[in-house]
Amino acid sequence: MSKRAILAGIGGYLPNLIVTNDELARSLDTSDAWIQERTGIRQRHVAGEGETAAFMGARAAEAALRDAGAGPGEVDAIILATSTPDQAFPATALRVQAALGVTRGFAFDLAAACSGFIYALAVAEGMIRAGQARGVLVIGSEVYSRILDWQDRGTCVLFGDGAGAVFLHAARDSGDPATARGVLSTHLHADGRHGDILYVDGAVGRHDLPGTLKMNGPAVFRQAVTLLAAAVEEALAANGLERGAVDWLVPHQANLRIIEAMGKKLGLPPERVVVTIDRHANTSAASIPLALAEAVGDGRIRRGDLVLMEALGGGLTWGSALVRL
Ligand code: UT7
Repeated sequence: MSKRAILAGIGGYLPNLIVTNDELARSLDTSDAWIQERTGIRQRHVAGEGETAAFMGARAAEAALRDAGAGPGEVDAIILATSTPDQAFPATALRVQAALGVTRGFAFDLAAACSGFIYALAVAEGMIRAGQARGVLVIGSEVYSRILDWQDRGTCVLFGDGAGAVFLHAARDSGDPATARGVLSTHLHADGRHGDILYVDGAVGRHDLPGTLKMNGPAVFRQAVTLLAAAVEEALAANGLERGAVDWLVPHQANLRIIEAMGKKLGLPPERVVVTIDRHANTSAASIPLALAEAVGDGRIRRGDLVLMEALGGGLTWGSALVRL
């Protein structure tokens, strides 16, 4: 019988420091009203000195393992999605591996910007199906506060820091798509022709250009609405589902207007769409697992629920995943 990847545990970590829109407006030509109206954001968490991508990723991973009732001995692989690694190498995933006390298996980082979690989930699921690993930690951990131009009101108000993680575990595929738990399908896309509408203008070792995030917001917005709509339809079609058939949308949190448009597209009432952007802002690859951790933690999303996830980010990269919890 073939294998399926079950989401056995979910966890998240947010930095202690919260910065409100009003606090940003003290030193920037912006306002709480503009930020809330255009994005839905009210505040964001900002990492302190010790809250590195590895530190936050490890805390989220520990929470996911605890939730699964699993220990470090059950972790065969760690895939950590980030655009803000602590070092060029070792990969942040290996720092997390060491922090967790995992001493075997393999670990690597994956760079797909805000789509990183969907990409990492797809890679992990493929490895579980192929029998290369039984227990895989999939982590999104981001410290965007380090790559923001804090003078650029068009970008710095949009992002926050944090980490989220899921522990995927192999299970026998029951063969019945109506009840089977786990990752049901993933759909990945990339189009490098749009690389210049959302990017970081620097790299590790470029002392002349350490790099800050640049974005043509309206251009990304236009792409997101079209490409994400196609990605959610693709997930429905691949699973033979009609509009309204999924229980929850857990979207990447980039803009409340995009999130609401996707909820409508799926035929879901607003209470079936998980929104954290108001409190977390855009935490890039961490946003989906953080939202999932919140909605599972407070009892909204339950075992057996059908959850659709979607994300779009720099690259452009985008995709969707359908999971039964
Ligand atoms: O996670 C990766 C994917 N990212 C996304 O999906 C983000 C997609 N884009 C967006 O969410 C939106 O485009 C933004 C929220 C980034 C911007 O909203 P917008 O409604 O597209 O605004 P805009 O960039 O067209 O700017 C409108 C006006 C401009 O002023 P003028 O030229 O009309 O006078 C901006 O200069 O708003 C001004 N503006 C601001 N004003 C106050 C831009 N940023 C700010 C700000 N505070 N923070």
